[in-house]
Amino acid sequence: MKHSVAIIGVGTVGSSIASTLLSKNIVAELILLDKDEARCAGQVKDLSDTLGFSYAHKVIQGTYEEVKQADIVIIAAGRPQKQGESRLHLIESNKSILDSILKNLKSGLKESAIVIVVSNPLDVLTYCTLKELGLPRRQVFGTGTYLDSQRLSCLLSRRLQVGQDSVASLVLGEHGDSQVIAWSATKVGGLSIDHFIAEEDKVVIEKEVRESAYDIIQKKGSTSYGIAACVASLCQIIFYNTHDIVPVSWYHAGFGVCMSMPVVLSENGIERVVPVALTEGELKDLKKSVALLKEYQKKVN
Ligand SMILES: NC(=O)c1ccc[n+]([C@@H]2O[C@H](COP(=O)([O-])OP(=O)(O)OC[C@H]3O[C@@H](n4cnc5c(N)ncnc54)[C@H](O)[C@@H]3O)[C@@H](O)[C@H]2O)c1
Repeated sequence: MKHSVAIIGVGTVGSSIASTLLSKNIVAELILLDKDEARCAGQVKDLSDTLGFSYAHKVIQGTYEEVKQADIVIIAAGRPQKQGESRLHLIESNKSILDSILKNLKSGLKESAIVIVVSNPLDVLTYCTLKELGLPRRQVFGTGTYLDSQRLSCLLSRRLQVGQDSVASLVLGEHGDSQVIAWSATKVGGLSIDHFIAEEDKVVIEKEVRESAYDIIQKKGSTSYGIAACVASLCQIIFYNTHDIVPVSWYHAGFGVCMSMPVVLSENGIERVVPVALTEGELKDLKKSVALLKEYQKKVN
């Protein structure tokens, strides 16, 4: 692997991903592409100023032919949520943007290329990408609830005043309002979360995690740093072949939708799925999330 990453869509999110990949020395070559060519040229120039402080040697504004040579292709193009809008509201505008991108990516991607979807509505667009590109299932996934899970860990660590590495959290299902916290899989120092918080606290925490993006959007207009760190972490796992377990959005043949459940990630993409034993209540909520995603998926089929 050359450790090359292409990012399609370098607005707030795409450019933050680029900057994080460079500052963390995860990438050697960055190829950026955006419909707004002037903006893309500006991002390339600005990011190139960081090369002297990074091990990366190349940031270019690429054509689709160059994008298709990358080890990892990240799709971050699309309209972001406006204040009060849910991610699912973005389906029409972002599906047509995605279609225009996939048309160009459809043939000629590297055989081993891994495609990571970031644009919202994440799960539905991941489904469309997988279907359209025809790559093996392990090579196409969305960032999913990896970010939500980290948000939950962070929140619990602050609340319980323990280091974040002592908290293991899992948010499943839609990267959106119907997401499900698997409390039964949430551990603090290896112990059940029930040793640390009461049932009524869970409801408050669930709301805070679910509404975190809305709150950030209301306060500063968009979210970018968390998702950038999340994508950078996924690229690091792939390039360093660390086999970490992460909840990303992938296609579940049984449910017929893309949604987040934990997988082992490697240089090949999704190496294997990690089964989760959920409680009856969690499973019921997950099925509601699946039903909602199915409904939205029908709109794009
Ligand atoms: N997965 C997550 O957790 C997560 C988090 C934050 C944002 N997002 C999503 O990421 C997407 C981008 O958000 P943003 O804040 O960067 O938006 P933005 O408006 O700042 O940037 C979007 C970029 O996409 C480009 N674009 C539009 N159509 C294109 C096309 N056909 N080809 C190439 N580029 C095209 C635009 O020119 C723009 O530069 C949104 O859909 C947003 O909802 C996802």
